[in-house]
Amino acid sequence: MRILVTGGAGYIGATAVDILLTQGFDVTVLDDCSTGHADSVPSQARFIEGSLLDAHTVREALTGASAVLHFAGKSLVGESVVKPDLYHEVNVHGTRILLEEMRTAAIQRIVFSSSAATYGEPVTTPILESAATSPTNPYGETKLAVDNILTQEGQLHGLGAISLRYFNVAGAHKSQRGWLPERHDTETHLIPNVLRSTPDKPVKIFGTDWSTVDGTCIRDYVHVVDLIDAHISALQKIQLGSHEVINLGSGRGYSVREVLSAASSALGHQIPAQDSSRRSGDPAVLLADIKKASTYLGWTPTRDLLAMVTDTAASFQLS
Ligand code: UFG
Repeated sequence: MRILVTGGAGYIGATAVDILLTQGFDVTVLDDCSTGHADSVPSQARFIEGSLLDAHTVREALTGASAVLHFAGKSLVGESVVKPDLYHEVNVHGTRILLEEMRTAAIQRIVFSSSAATYGEPVTTPILESAATSPTNPYGETKLAVDNILTQEGQLHGLGAISLRYFNVAGAHKSQRGWLPERHDTETHLIPNVLRSTPDKPVKIFGTDWSTVDGTCIRDYVHVVDLIDAHISALQKIQLGSHEVINLGSGRGYSVREVLSAASSALGHQIPAQDSSRRSGDPAVLLADIKKASTYLGWTPTRDLLAMVTDTAASFQLS
């Protein structure tokens, strides 16, 4: 069975590619390498370097595929505020092109990388899939727009789709060729920043006056390998004509200070850190209710925060 992995040269997509190949799937990768890295794609995969926005290229990439794991897209909240049109073009219009070409090629199964950013500021915690969606930035808006398009495609054209709403993805996968690290030109995520913190450039703690146990924000971190296991289960659970939305987190919240302390244990030294003001747009707590992932996908995450921090450190060659 051949799977098209869009965004397969990126951190999460490349992890999926390696695990799919290990499990005996055939894989095609479509990636424009705008943020991904061609050297992350193994030679066993068919690799098409091109854009989702080019229908011809998408058609070629879909040849022989039975299903799609759709990771490709712009994914930085801050950038989306500055370049909303780019986010709508790539994330929404690009997905429309992909879906049109899937329809033409009679490929009816897709797993989509959605985000907790679709919910916006949570009204209740932990967040259920039935919670109101009210994104607070263009990134979240584009993910929600695609979720809505997928529902429509199921009703109108019989597509089978599962949107997986990621919380905070972390950790790294050791592939047959070595670690597949998170590699961004500008790194905004907490765990990479904590691990690279130095006395000269200490990581900033964005807000120490939140109404949480230790005053710092709480997030739900999920290991990238657990996340991909959920995608492979999702591929097998898709029902034609239906669209399911499923949260992927660990169902456990960790504060920024807890992340710092896990990183200190992983690296064996105190992480330099500097208390700082709140970052605009941050909610105090984001925590997933993951019961649906368990009942629908038969999935439970198995790797804890220490494993995420330790694997990220190894992928950065820090340990
Ligand atoms: N943080 C710091 N210092 C840093 C970086 C982050 O204190 O240098 C804090 C943030 O304020 C936040 C927590 O660490 O409280 C996690 O921040 P990240 O930037 O790692 O992740 P976010 O929670 O902001 O973003 C994640 C995903 C987004 C998604 C968003 C909402 O990365 O794609 O959750 O679901 F949109």
